Amino acid sequence: MHHVNKSIELVENEFARDVVAGLSADVKTLPSRWLYDERGSALFEEITKLEEYYVTRAETSILRERQADIADFIGSGATLIEYGAGAGIKTELVLAGLRDPRGYVPIDIADAFLAETSKRIASRFPSLCVRPIERNFLDVFEVPFDGSDGRRTGFFPGSTMGNLNTIEAQALLMQMGRHLGDGGRAIIGVDLQKNVDTLLRAYDDRAGVTAAFNLNLLERINTELGGDFRLEQFKHVSRWNEIEKAVEMHLVSLCDQRVTLCAQTFLFRTSETIHTESSRKYTAESFERLARAGGWKVAEAWQDADALFGLFGLIRY
Ligand code: AVJ
Repeated sequence: MHHVNKSIELVENEFARDVVAGLSADVKTLPSRWLYDERGSALFEEITKLEEYYVTRAETSILRERQADIADFIGSGATLIEYGAGAGIKTELVLAGLRDPRGYVPIDIADAFLAETSKRIASRFPSLCVRPIERNFLDVFEVPFDGSDGRRTGFFPGSTMGNLNTIEAQALLMQMGRHLGDGGRAIIGVDLQKNVDTLLRAYDDRAGVTAAFNLNLLERINTELGGDFRLEQFKHVSRWNEIEKAVEMHLVSLCDQRVTLCAQTFLFRTSETIHTESSRKYTAESFERLARAGGWKVAEAWQDADALFGLFGLIRY
């Protein structure tokens, strides 16, 4: 079989396995990373422009206002390694501030995005050595050294860290430590704890874009796994989990119903939910504890004017 088809098939199997396992559990859940197919990624792009979704605006304002401080922290001649690169808009803000940046290593599973981002950044920064890695950054892997590499800095913006549970977050921080080496630094963005109403509105906007983003996961299951989900029989909700300090997205079943996919039938009771995403919110203190447990100490903490979002400069200890 052709190599490309084989890799697509592999991803589909992994999706099928996650969906069947997640819907078979007592408390139904689906991993949030499957939200980002082509339509899901476009809907997330739309979310970042919503009035209620302050997250992207707040982080971008820090990257602009603190561009010089961030560049000082990273130092000259650096190689930037980005975990979950996506569209790379924030990366450009960081790179533009750096003195003599040497390399850029974007890591992402979405190969279309990865190729596009790499091309754009390579043409905007011609002296930069761009070496994309097509991986899920939660896998265990190496980042090969290149002759032109400068001191390595990890970049993990967008509060993607918030989607990871404590075990995943610590494993990633330790993997970053291995990749970035002695003297390695990292810049990580996380959303901060705040008024619960503000948080819930950010994940349940009036225009219904977040609802469409969440429900698209069922559409994706229908298309890719031959499911028969009836989308009008599920409703998007956002919930605050006080113990986890996380906003959760759920899809609530509006009636007793059964859904079939991959030759298996799943029963849903009225009001039963599928938990599709947790978005953890930190304080400066709780993030510092997490970082320390993962082998890093916080050297810099930057916030936007309204203290909505936190960008942290870490040094490996
Ligand atoms: C891209 C994971 C940071 O958790 O805020 C936006 C995803 N989910 N609205 C987030 C998301 C619902 C977003 N991250």
